[in-house]
Amino acid sequence: MTTVNNDMQTTKIMAKDIHKVPFDEGTKAKLSIFQDYLKAWLPVFLAKEEVYWNTINVFDFFAGPGSDSRGAMGTPLIIIEELRPYLDKIKQKKLSVNLYFNEYSKPKQEELKAKLLPYGKELKTYSIEIENLDFKESFDKQFPKMGKSNCANLLFLDQSGIKHISEEVFNKITNLKRTDFLFFISSSTIKRFAEHPKIIQYIKINPEEVENTPYHEIHRLVLNYYKSLISNNKEYYLAPFSLRKDAGAVYGLIFGSGHVLGIEKFLITCWKVDPERGEANFDIDEDKICPGQLDLFTGEVRKPKKIDLFEKELKERILSQELKNDKDIYLFTLTNGFIPAHARKVTSKLIADKKIAKCHLSLSHKICK
Ligand SMILES: C[S@@+](CC[C@H](N)C(=O)[O-])C[C@H]1O[C@@H](n2cnc3c(N)ncnc32)[C@H](O)[C@@H]1O
Repeated sequence: MTTVNNDMQTTKIMAKDIHKVPFDEGTKAKLSIFQDYLKAWLPVFLAKEEVYWNTINVFDFFAGPGSDSRGAMGTPLIIIEELRPYLDKIKQKKLSVNLYFNEYSKPKQEELKAKLLPYGKELKTYSIEIENLDFKESFDKQFPKMGKSNCANLLFLDQSGIKHISEEVFNKITNLKRTDFLFFISSSTIKRFAEHPKIIQYIKINPEEVENTPYHEIHRLVLNYYKSLISNNKEYYLAPFSLRKDAGAVYGLIFGSGHVLGIEKFLITCWKVDPERGEANFDIDEDKICPGQLDLFTGEVRKPKKIDLFEKELKERILSQELKNDKDIYLFTLTNGFIPAHARKVTSKLIADKKIAKCHLSLSHKICK
């Protein structure tokens, strides 16, 4: 239970224990994004012929007990399941794979240990540590491991509220090499209690901006706050995914990576979950489009505003030569939350309409090497 005090009132936000009930739709969407991203992340480090980094660390700092009340897998079991196809490769290549789980509640940590027992045989292929610490203590303890030169890290920070990904923690993570992270944040708490001193202490977003941001867009504002913490000359990529729970509250994931391949893979995951806008498990731009609905004026299938705007902007920037080559187009696409497939549609049409010369554009991370 989080208690928020102010002069006028005391508001108690009862944080219900998500593991005592079946996971709701928002939690299922969050876990499916996490699992899908993990599926894309693991082979980059475990399946390649060459071994560049022989230590692979996966940190799950808010691990929970392993499953919900009906046995649906939580993050620790998802990680173990997704590692299964790589057990032979890990042995062959003599990789050191380390899983780290932390859970503050002792009973949940015990439950998790018991659930991992059946995996005893596999655990010989990788190491596993399960701790029972407050997040900050656990993070500070693990941090030196993340900075070692021969390792790649994936961090999952599935906090319940808003307070753990402080400026200090965020800056430490974003300054690490070969480290991707995904964190959860209860953005609607910021909307509801924007002016509360406790909120301002954790997240320095201007209350007026919060006031002017509609509820369904609040997670985008939270992303912009975290973006503002990254210095302008640093190559770093962040992307949001907004989640609406059954009761209407808006939460979200924020993904971060210092590498274009990381953000490309995350965005591909998001567009699979949300083929309309790649950004939410609901109609975040209030387009109110029924699948296949025709536009009365153009006779074409109606497009979400976000896609329409992106296509127009990309076309204009190519024609004005602001974007001069495939690398420019690729980076513009990713930094606007789109994937190469969207850009290819625009460039193919420009070529077909003879607006640009016929050419082969390489819209992939390889162009950024
Ligand atoms: C949203 S749940 C995580 C769910 C988990 N990832 C899963 O898939 O089941 C947040 C978890 O963090 C734990 N927790 C709460 N405060 C914590 C703290 N200060 N440090 C570490 N864990 C904490 C809670 O007990 C809860 O199990």
